[in-house]
Amino acid sequence: MHIFQRIDEARSFCSRARSGGTDIGFVPTMGAFHEGHISLIRSCREENETVMVSIFVNPAQFGPDEDFVAYPRDLDYDAGLCREMGVDAVFAPSVAEMYPTPQTLSLDFGGLTSDLEGRHRPGHFAGVGLVIAKLFNVVGACRAYFGDKDWQQLAVVRRLTAELAFPVEVLGCETVRDSDGLALSSRNAYLSATERQSALGLYRSLRVGSDKIESGERSRDAVEEAMALVLAEVKGLSPDYAVVRDAATLMPVDFLSGDLRLLVAANVGGTRLIDNLGARADRPPPLSTLGEGVRA
Ligand code: PAF
Repeated sequence: MHIFQRIDEARSFCSRARSGGTDIGFVPTMGAFHEGHISLIRSCREENETVMVSIFVNPAQFGPDEDFVAYPRDLDYDAGLCREMGVDAVFAPSVAEMYPTPQTLSLDFGGLTSDLEGRHRPGHFAGVGLVIAKLFNVVGACRAYFGDKDWQQLAVVRRLTAELAFPVEVLGCETVRDSDGLALSSRNAYLSATERQSALGLYRSLRVGSDKIESGERSRDAVEEAMALVLAEVKGLSPDYAVVRDAATLMPVDFLSGDLRLLVAANVGGTRLIDNLGARADRPPPLSTLGEGVRA
């Protein structure tokens, strides 16, 4: 397995692979691997001839009060796992390699990032967009794998890819959860045992919301209220948002229909956690949920 630190080395490796006729699968990461990353790399390995994984803690996506310095880093461990999984090349550049000069370009995703995580973390998605644009420029034509767990990030990457015409197929992979439902995240490492129990409220809230939609509720307010109630009842958890949005645009939909995404965020101790779940509202709601006037 190759480990490249320089852009030119990683780029020529990918070009050579393509000119040899193989397709490239790419998994961008910030390291600190957990089962979630492993399942992305596994899917990538199964579906592509050449597999490239990047490991880079991207300073541009951390706010001044966020955990850039404390973010867990263990390149040897992560590279070891890559080797075991049959990854062909790891790209692990330094900050100076990725950002050799002060960055003047700034990406704006408009309404897609003005709410939810974007509201809470100003500049975060501009930083994600920037590093993904650079990485896609290094790797070139490929299939790129991202976790559904960061749903707004996935929407940003899809928008970036479409608007800048990157020759990249973006694939979202299902969130990996512990047996109790907690979505895996590198930040779970910060949770004490009690905080971890409180963190389970996020998934409970999503399930309550999706069950309501499943059983015919079509009012956004009613679903969001039910989700918020679950979060409010959990000791040690301070909720930020609990919403239902259009799955692709992330815009609010009053009468729930089509592909939806339920999204929650909350602080547990000093740790901010996010989670989301898909739901579809394409069947007519059961008659029992409609007002008297519309019954036959
Ligand atoms: O999800 C992540 O790990 C990061 O945001 C990403 C996509 C690797 C960009 O730094």
